[in-house]
Amino acid sequence: MGERRIISVHSYRGGTGKSNITANLAVLAAEMGKRVAVLDTDLQSPGIHVLFGFDQDQISLTLVDFLWGKCEIQDTVYDVTDRVCPEASGRCWLVPASLTTQAISRILDEGYEASRLNSHFDELMDELDLDCLLIDTHPGLNRETMLTSAISDILILLIRPDQQDYYGTAVLAEIANKLEIPAIYLVANKIFSHVNETQLRERLEEAFGYSVIGMIPLCEEMARLGSRGLFIREHPEHEITHELRQIAERILAT
Ligand SMILES: Nc1ncnc2c1ncn2[C@@H]1O[C@H](COP(=O)(O)OP(=O)(O)OP(=O)(O)O)[C@@H](O)[C@H]1O
Ligand SMILES: [Mg+2]
Repeated sequence: MGERRIISVHSYRGGTGKSNITANLAVLAAEMGKRVAVLDTDLQSPGIHVLFGFDQDQISLTLVDFLWGKCEIQDTVYDVTDRVCPEASGRCWLVPASLTTQAISRILDEGYEASRLNSHFDELMDELDLDCLLIDTHPGLNRETMLTSAISDILILLIRPDQQDYYGTAVLAEIANKLEIPAIYLVANKIFSHVNETQLRERLEEAFGYSVIGMIPLCEEMARLGSRGLFIREHPEHEITHELRQIAERILAT
């Protein structure tokens, strides 16, 4: 088995593509033979379960139940391999968040104890013999995401070509820099077709000081899919699928 890693996917602004990219990377990882779990820590506006074809009524215990001490973290794990990548040599699990009004209101009121979550990652990784834990996050600067990013091996910062993203990502990048995360990478998403990618890459690397490991075009097929499924399954030969595979190889290479 290769080196285990915790990978957080974050962005300053919402709607940058975190959930879609995280879910697709997880399945690519499973296809590469990895044992991977996806954790939905966007407890205020959960959604990544939709990409794996889950309705809320198919989910019983969630990450929120664990955080409130109602169950063990292992009880919140759903094996999604057979639904999304039955042919994969690895496996893929999902730890969903709760979509109930009660859970979301309480999270909005009280936040959650990120340190309790972090302290159980090893247990989860042992239990499922994971190679990789991929963490989908709530956008923006928030204490919980920063605490979880701080114990990650890799932090992926997603950015769109938008001035609001640039300013916010500069703040995130500066804070992330203080957290001593072993590797921080940038991925640019929703890039317009007329953009010179080489120039954009150089500009981003110079502005933020981290390597750009992926550049994903704004794509009508992705928008039209509207998170109803996994892009890589619907469009296995699309340039975005190849780009995502390269990102997966980069972050999972041992
Ligand atoms: N490259 C792309 N081209 C076109 N549409 C995209 C692209 N990437 C993502 N989208 C679309 O953007 C929307 C937001 O994506 P997603 O939910 O993954 O973002 P997010 O960062 O997780 O959002 P939030 O911050 O709300 O959690 C979705 O409708 C998705 O289909
Ligand atoms: Mg999301």
